[in-house]
Amino acid sequence: MSGTEDIRFCAARRRALENLAGVALCAALPAAEAAPPPAKLPPQVGDLLATPSWDEQPRVIGPADVKAGAAPITVFPQDPTSGVTREKLRLNQILLVRLDPAGLDPATAALSAEGIVAYAGTCTHTGCGVTDWNAQSRHFICPCHSSEFDPAKGAVRVAGPAPRPLPALPLKIEDGKLLVAGGFSARVGGAKPA
Ligand code: FES
Repeated sequence: MSGTEDIRFCAARRRALENLAGVALCAALPAAEAAPPPAKLPPQVGDLLATPSWDEQPRVIGPADVKAGAAPITVFPQDPTSGVTREKLRLNQILLVRLDPAGLDPATAALSAEGIVAYAGTCTHTGCGVTDWNAQSRHFICPCHSSEFDPAKGAVRVAGPAPRPLPALPLKIEDGKLLVAGGFSARVGGAKPA
């Protein structure tokens, strides 16, 4: 092999090795994360609110369904286009309740719609579902360690070990429909593991 051929051979060999290294590097990288399916997306602006599929009569909840003086309704966001209820993400569980608009603090009133307020239904202590309701005080209660939250005041904790309020979900009413107007006000779920 002449000197010129040696140089050409080495250059070609280097390119081939670089290509192989590139292939190996690509193979080592994790596959690009696919977008979560609609049923696992967090609440999106414009979503409807619906009872989950395991409810006796799954249905979309409108403003008139949220009665003054009634206990909270547990719902999940629903994609208005596909009708998919985003119920495969446990943290999407939402509590809806109608309160006297005159009794809401200004920050809560700003996120409400005709006195209806919405909060994450997952406790900020260790992540239990907030399923209980005190009809006298009109407070949410977590059954696990009795944390209590006031929905008229941003779901601030008024009793128990929960370290922070339940995140709020902004609402709006358009064309008679109760809709999500924004994302949760804070991270949903219990305290992060240390
Ligand atoms: S998980 Fe709710 S009070 Fe402990």
